[in-house]
Amino acid sequence: IRESFLKKTSTWTTLEDSQKNKTSAYQRLHTGISELDRVLGGGLVPDSFVLLGGDPGIGKSTLILQVANGLINNQNELKLLYISGEESVEQIALRANRLQIHHQNRFFLASETELEPVFEIIKELKPQVLFMDSLQTFSTQSISSAPGNAAQLREVTARLMTLAKSAGICIWMVGHVTKDGAIAGPKMVEHMVDTVLYFEGDGTQDYRLLRTVKNRFGSTQELGVFEMTGQGLKEILNPSSFFLSERKEPTVGTTITVSLEGTRPIFVELQALVIPSGLAMPRRTAVGVDHTKISLLTAILERHLRLPLSQKDVFFNVSGGLKLSEPASDLAAIAAIWSSHTEKTFPLNCVFMGEVGLTGEVRTISQLELRLQEAKKLGFKTVILPNTSHKTLDQYKDDLKFIQISNVSQISKILA
Ligand code: TYD
Ligand code: MG
Repeated sequence: IRESFLKKTSTWTTLEDSQKNKTSAYQRLHTGISELDRVLGGGLVPDSFVLLGGDPGIGKSTLILQVANGLINNQNELKLLYISGEESVEQIALRANRLQIHHQNRFFLASETELEPVFEIIKELKPQVLFMDSLQTFSTQSISSAPGNAAQLREVTARLMTLAKSAGICIWMVGHVTKDGAIAGPKMVEHMVDTVLYFEGDGTQDYRLLRTVKNRFGSTQELGVFEMTGQGLKEILNPSSFFLSERKEPTVGTTITVSLEGTRPIFVELQALVIPSGLAMPRRTAVGVDHTKISLLTAILERHLRLPLSQKDVFFNVSGGLKLSEPASDLAAIAAIWSSHTEKTFPLNCVFMGEVGLTGEVRTISQLELRLQEAKKLGFKTVILPNTSHKTLDQYKDDLKFIQISNVSQISKILA
């Protein structure tokens, strides 16, 4: 028994050897779309599996065609294959033409819904990058259930994942997010793949947010911002200009804060509306932040600024459809609610940064310098922030005025 056990061959390697072997293989591929490269953690990893989820019609197919274009332009000799289960080859070609994709005879198209013929094509073409559009339309003969079924989704993903790792092919899989999970969606296979990106928009506006939910090769904090135009997706390199509405004079119920999305500070406007409530349980409605956060901040205002909010409805909105999760926007949110209730305004060009505790104290935030640099660059004049060491602030004193507050009860210090 011992003999046969010892004979069993399995391979292993030392970490050092594997690092030697892998360094060249893990040269990242550049997509030519800097917003996307950043979200991916510095480009595309060659044998990785990327899942791109999003609502139908949000622009996923458009994005991957543009990724294909960028990869072709930035990497000589890279061969790409696009398999669509939704559109005919003619339809894809038409769209590729409209988007002015430079194919250089290295971009191949096929319309298939079964995995087995796809594998045949791959054996023949040997592409380095494979795009599959979309997950719910593919099936494999090894399972009898219908395409789009949970079992099919998992089997299709598992077989493609094996392909990615064994043949060194980078795979992009598009997945439609479905309402209420009535049909199986990309969520069901997130745990199997290397990278999960979600493409979002708020339906009414043209900009799109590309968010990382999972990334085995980089941070999940990054956010890419795009605009959908007649010529496809355009990168928005200065997103703050998009999320800030233009104001000529101070407005009741609005404040500006800066949220750190990954490595990039983004300035957004917060809006609050406080009105008398006819309900026994007044409403606390929030878009763009967790509504329990708004209940909590409202309670802090009641307690520490003695605002009678228990008979008031509070509506809260983050402009531009951005979702805030950072506590650094607490102070701005409190100030917006306070402003709407008191009908007093704050100065123009003033930005709030600070976390607020239950006792009303304003706490320091991370990456203050990064936020201040950006505030200066965007032309803000006043910064409301917690008590901070003078060393940090001194370098900005020619451009920015600082108002330091240690408790929310001092909020009226900053009136316009
Ligand atoms: P699409 O990429 O087909 O979405 P998905 O694959 O996520 O379902 O994009 C669909 C929408 O994008 C469609 O309504 C038209 C719009 N669009 C533009 O505005 N400009 C363009 O250049 C393209 C290709 C699409
Ligand atoms: Mg599509």
